[in-house]
This record gives sequence, C-alpha cells and structure tokens, in this order.
Amino acid sequence: MELILLGPPGAGKGTQSKLLETRYGVAQISTGDMLRAEVKAGTPIGLEAKHIMDAGKLVSDDILIRMIGERIKQPDCAKGFILDGFPRTVPQAEALDKLLHEQAVDLDAVIELKVDEAILVERISGRFTCAKCGEGYHDKFKQPRTPGVCDVCGSTEFTRRPDDKAETVHARLEAYNAQTAPILPYYKARGRLFTVDGMADMDVVEAEIEAILRGLGVEAA
Ligand code: AP5
Ligand code: MG
Ligand code: ZN
Repeated sequence: MELILLGPPGAGKGTQSKLLETRYGVAQISTGDMLRAEVKAGTPIGLEAKHIMDAGKLVSDDILIRMIGERIKQPDCAKGFILDGFPRTVPQAEALDKLLHEQAVDLDAVIELKVDEAILVERISGRFTCAKCGEGYHDKFKQPRTPGVCDVCGSTEFTRRPDDKAETVHARLEAYNAQTAPILPYYKARGRLFTVDGMADMDVVEAEIEAILRGLGVEAA
C-alpha cells in the first residue's frame, strides 16, 4: 500500500498514520519527524532546517526530495508506506511521481484530512509527546490513563514541539494554504484524491480511511 495523508498542521496526519502503520504493516514516513531527528542529531541538514521549522516555513524541496528518495528504498518500505507531511509543494509531488515510477510502485490514494482552521490552534497547542517512545498525547483529547505517565512505556518525561506556539502555527497554516493546498488539484486530476472529515473523533476518522482503502481493494494485514 502506498498512501499519502494530506492536511494542514494539526489535521491528524501523524495520529492516523501511526494507527494505519500498525493495522496495515507498512512504514509511516513523517518528514517532520525525520527533520526533527536531523535537528536533534545536529547534522548539516538539521542545522539548516532548524530556523526554517521554528519560523513555520517550509524546508527546501531539494533536501526533502533527497531524503524521501533514500527513505523509500529502505527494507521496511518493501510492503508499502504512508507519507505523512510529504509532498508539500507541487515540485515535491512531481518528484515523488518520478521516484515511484523508478520503484515501479503505484500510489493507491491521497487522503485529505479536512478540518476547520479554528480548531487547529487548540489541537496543536495542547499536543505533547512521550520523550522516550514518542507516543502522542493531548491536554484535552488524549490524556495518558495515569496523569503524567506514558501509557506505552511508563516514562514520566514529555516534550512539546518548539513550532507549536500559537504565532508559529499561523505561519504554518499560511505555508499550507499557499504552498501545499495547490497539490490537491494535482491529485484530483489523477482521480486519486479522497477527502475525509478530520473534525470527527479519531476512531471515526480511522474507520473512514479504512473504508476508502477497502473500496480500493487494500485490506489490513
Ligand atoms: P510536520 O511535523 O509534518 O508538521 P505539520 O504538517 O505542521 O503537522 P503536525 O505534525 O503539526 O500535525 P498532524 O497533522 O500530524 O496532527 P497530529 O496527528 O499530531 O512538519 C513540521 C515542519 O517540518 C514544517 O513546518 C516544515 O518546516 C518541515 N517539513 C516537514 N515536511 C516538509 C516537506 N515535505 N517540505 C518542506 N518542509 C517540511 O494531531 C494534532 C493534535 O490533535 C494531537 O495532539 C492529536 O492527539 C490531536 N488529534 C488528532 N486527531 C484528532 C481528532 N480526530 N480529534 C481530536 N483531536 C485529534
Ligand atoms: Mg505530524
Ligand atoms: Zn512512552
């Protein structure tokens, strides 16, 4: 299965791709997570990306296209992958077409998570992550079962993303509307675009995505 999840910051791309990764046995590829790992490791890419990400702008197409080109050749992608955060510009979408063609794989679907902008700031500013295992939580929508303790690994340390401040969220939304939304017609013209209501509860969103995949003949692992 080769799937793209598209949507503005906070739409639920990360949440849904993690659920799908487990159910379908394919790799989640989050370019945001990959870039944050480069920043943490202090690599040349990380050093270049950090101030761009902190400002809520997009990192250069060249860097992203190179990263994805290498990533989808890794063994864990053999059964397929879910792209979370890529492509984000028309040149990235065109480059992805080329990469998929070289690998002789076909895109199954592009799923757009549609949400009202008004709710995004609340979703993003309430988000936190387990510092040890990366499990995602939310102050209001998904608290750990025992407050302050990660459900998955028991760690008591959590982190918040530096670009999740309200003013940066507005810049990220602007980047989405100006640079990423134009790729929706690109996929619509190819008959690959499906839209899901991302305002629904997480399990409802998951069920809708699975229904779309079932309709395309893609079954869970
Ligand atoms: P990236 O990490 O991709 O961030 P983003 O697109 O801004 O999206 P988010 O991760 O904030 O949101 P999400 O859709 O994953 O939502 P989530 O599931 O967490 O990119 C970060 C930066 O990296 C970019 O700004 C850019 O600088 C750079 N970058 C990355 N890729 C790039 C590319 N291709 N080209 C150039 N630059 C690139 O959900 C949010 C919260 O809401 C969570 O707390 C969750 O629990 C909650 N939630 C989710 N679903 C629901 C629901 N249905 N109901 C209630 N709450 C929900
Ligand atoms: Mg994400
Ligand atoms: Zn954890």
